[in-house]
Amino acid sequence: MLVVEDLQAAYGESKVLFGMSLTIDRGEVVTLLGRNGMGKTTTVKSVFGLLKPRGGRVSIDGVDVTGAAPNRIARLGLGLVPEGRLIFPTLSVHENLIATARAGAGKGKWTAERVYDLFPRLRERRRNMGNQLSGGEQQMLAIGRALMTNPELIVLDEATEGLAPLIRDQIWDCLTRLKSEGEAILVIDKNVSALSRFADRHYIVEKGQIVWAGSTEALKTNPQVKDRFLRV
Ligand SMILES: Nc1ncnc2c1ncn2[C@@H]1O[C@H](COP(=O)(O)OP(=O)(O)OP(=O)(O)O)[C@@H](O)[C@H]1O
Ligand SMILES: [Mg+2]
Repeated sequence: MLVVEDLQAAYGESKVLFGMSLTIDRGEVVTLLGRNGMGKTTTVKSVFGLLKPRGGRVSIDGVDVTGAAPNRIARLGLGLVPEGRLIFPTLSVHENLIATARAGAGKGKWTAERVYDLFPRLRERRRNMGNQLSGGEQQMLAIGRALMTNPELIVLDEATEGLAPLIRDQIWDCLTRLKSEGEAILVIDKNVSALSRFADRHYIVEKGQIVWAGSTEALKTNPQVKDRFLRV
């Protein structure tokens, strides 16, 4: 569904991606792992049209979308839960969900009610403003907002960062449920063992390139991979 080939990206003079390549098929759960500053978020920004690539190619279902605007990427079925959440602080939970639905494709199955079924906590807080939510609630709202665009592939950039273990588990449960419904998921996170419970495949990024790719089984049976690329 998503194919990234030989992607190059930079901020001004400083190059960050040096030939990033990855693929995600329909219904697959794939992770992007790697230490801080290796280029994971930059890859996401380049795919979603938030940073213009300097080279390489991004395609969705065979359509070349390299450098396309974010709303085009959304219409083609990609939804982003960005690093730092980026919800509207002065809109209520419900307004946050509805605002995204309008901007998105709006053709699919996701409604605010379905998001509330996925995260009952958000139903309780539906009239609260974005800036009155706890970190975990904000994260749930950020996921709900991405779902409201009815994506075929949802990308989560550090969705569990700074959250309590209990809330983190709720996020993992949510992703497991989405997977069972056939959603493709690209998840960037530091909790490798939690990811190994439901992800199909993994990519490890180092200095703007993929340095290792393999199945969950391969990752589990190669502890030296974790030692070499993921230990801080
Ligand atoms: N807006 C920016 N301007 C200049 N340099 C940036 C900018 N954003 C990121 N960088 C640099 O690009 C490199 C890759 O950053 P990126 O955010 O992609 O890493 P990451 O893998 O997502 O890291 P983390 O795990 O900390 O989120 C880093 O060296 C970072 O300092
Ligand atoms: Mg990042």
